Amino acid sequence: MSDTIPFGKAFLVGSELDYIREAAARGHLSGDGEFTRRCSEWFVKELGCHHALLTHSCTAGLELAAIVSGVGPGDEVIMPSFTFVSTANAFVLRGAVPVFVDIRPDNLNLDESLVEAAITPRTRAIVPMHYAGVACDMDRIGAIAKQHGLLVIEDAAQALGATYKGRKLGAIGELGCLSFHDTKNVICGEGGALLFRDATFVERAEIVREKGTNRKAFFRGAVDKYSWVDIGSSYLPGEITAAFLFAQLQQADMLTQRRLALCARYQEGLADLERDGRLTLPKGHPDCRDTGHIFFVLANSAAEREGLRLHLRGLDIHAVTHYVPLHSAVAGLKYGRTPGPMPVTDRVGDTLLRLPLFHELTAAQQDRVIAAVRGFYAKA
Ligand SMILES: Cc1ncc(COP(=O)(O)O)c(C=O)c1O
Repeated sequence: MSDTIPFGKAFLVGSELDYIREAAARGHLSGDGEFTRRCSEWFVKELGCHHALLTHSCTAGLELAAIVSGVGPGDEVIMPSFTFVSTANAFVLRGAVPVFVDIRPDNLNLDESLVEAAITPRTRAIVPMHYAGVACDMDRIGAIAKQHGLLVIEDAAQALGATYKGRKLGAIGELGCLSFHDTKNVICGEGGALLFRDATFVERAEIVREKGTNRKAFFRGAVDKYSWVDIGSSYLPGEITAAFLFAQLQQADMLTQRRLALCARYQEGLADLERDGRLTLPKGHPDCRDTGHIFFVLANSAAEREGLRLHLRGLDIHAVTHYVPLHSAVAGLKYGRTPGPMPVTDRVGDTLLRLPLFHELTAAQQDRVIAAVRGFYAKA
């Protein structure tokens, strides 16, 4: 029996534990210490945002974004249904209604041509999610938002370093959220960041993130004592997490290049199956530079996807499905609204399968995955 090939595996770049030791030696292990500062500076410099706040997850970043956006009960937020629950939950927690719009068949992102029809007088924001780090059409989404006075809050959980027409994802909308969960290219176990395009929401976000207090202003010396000034929660990670993350951020390019090389190899190994109409592979776009975060195949039917998944499982290869579309999930039916048909979302939810992709995936392992996929279609 050959070794199991997992779907993903956390990778350490090597300096994480040194930085954690350094953080401990500094004697400041709660949030907003030296390593949090270094991470935030990295985001501003490398991504071109105005400001960045480290959070303990992308989920926390989205919740923080939802609070400062001012979205409230009965307001509506337009988003894809093919996304993670946190994209919607953050707004449902404010009493708002997620309005689910279908995705495009090429990039699996919010179909911008359907957004205007979903706008009502209650619409407050559009939340594009960049699936697999491939950018949404941010020009069109930005133009619609401007015309209707809506905020753009990017769910860039999968998109650290990815670009749209040269601009970094997460720094294009008024607010953008990143994830550093174990499965991402750059990780710290659980972690995230909220990015700001300009100064508008920064001050309130600092307060909400610090339990609704003006503690950050106090540490800056801007006030002589801090107190409860707004609603809030604890959305900041400690310095152990920040130290780990900073080590990874310093190697973000190397981590991305490795993933891109693995994706290119999958494309090459499976290209003729796509040419023969057996499956569909991810599509790039000249306007977008993605970061090889996910490599998926789209089977031609749900039954075929399940057959392929089980075939790979039988060969000790873990390939996994992705989102159960939110509009058809129990909570999505209860809290959301779906104004139009969702044929692409339903099809992609039923047929997408993600292949193993992680830094240390060897050429031999990848060849095994490619051969196993090809073997399935040779039999089918
Ligand atoms: C699109 C999207 N948004 C949000 C999240 C939540 O990220 P986190 O686990 O950092 O809270 C994920 C998680 O993978 C995601 O895929």
